Amino acid sequence: NLIMKSAQTIGVLVPNLGNPFFSMFIRGVQETSRERHFIPLIFGANHDEELEGYYLQELIKRAVDGLIIASASITGEAIDNILKKNGIPYLLIDQNGGPSLDRIHVDDEQGGQLAANHLLYLGHRKLAVVMPDKPTQNLVIRLNGFKEKLAASGVDLPDEAIIHSPMTKLGGYQATDAVLNQHPTAVFAINDETALGLIRGLHEKGLNVPNDISVLGYDDIDLDEYVVPKLSSIHQPMVTMGQQATEMLINRIQDQHQAAQSLALPVTLRQRESTSPIK
Ligand code: RIB
Repeated sequence: NLIMKSAQTIGVLVPNLGNPFFSMFIRGVQETSRERHFIPLIFGANHDEELEGYYLQELIKRAVDGLIIASASITGEAIDNILKKNGIPYLLIDQNGGPSLDRIHVDDEQGGQLAANHLLYLGHRKLAVVMPDKPTQNLVIRLNGFKEKLAASGVDLPDEAIIHSPMTKLGGYQATDAVLNQHPTAVFAINDETALGLIRGLHEKGLNVPNDISVLGYDDIDLDEYVVPKLSSIHQPMVTMGQQATEMLINRIQDQHQAAQSLALPVTLRQRESTSPIK
């Protein structure tokens, strides 16, 4: 029988398909979907709220069985309104936590703390951060973890040392001058793509990473091992996140009344070449 009673499809919405963080996440989604005989319909919304709303409505119209939303722009509450009304199970992941019942908690606070500890341990006291100006909830938590550890060591991170730029390679690249105006000895880039763009910018200004300035990223995308210098980063379990999100969503689709599911996943430091002791 080629036609199934239920289409067994899930919708997946991510902000940016060009970022390997989300490709790895989707790899996990695909693996688990396949094991459980579901098919994912995947959309990248390019950080565009209107586009996110559009895909969301279209997925609902096409009667997907459930949704995974790793979306930046639309708020958790807005999503909740749309989806609750339609009675579609969903899971919000990674960006704005929101009110969904099932949860995967990747410890952004710990990640921020690991980042700060690493740079402090290397002797850095004059720091800068590059992050978007309208950060999602998880990024705010990440920054807070970072600041907490600095404060505990008596290191100040003034507001001017937080450079606002889009969370992309270009965003990192374009932040170069603003970063240099702060004269930091080390920079925490809120994700690896930002870090890679910034390193390119610093290189063009004749600066050497890490000898003149250390750069730490976040995510641990595969490119980190291939760039010069190899990028130090905080590892997020991207594939596992995708697998587990899918697992939880399909469990929920198959039993809407089961208890709330939750899973905590750790992050870890990957020290490579782009961070070094202060000279
Ligand atoms: O690279 C994408 C970033 O946005 C990640 O750090 C992830 O946690 C997300 O919120």
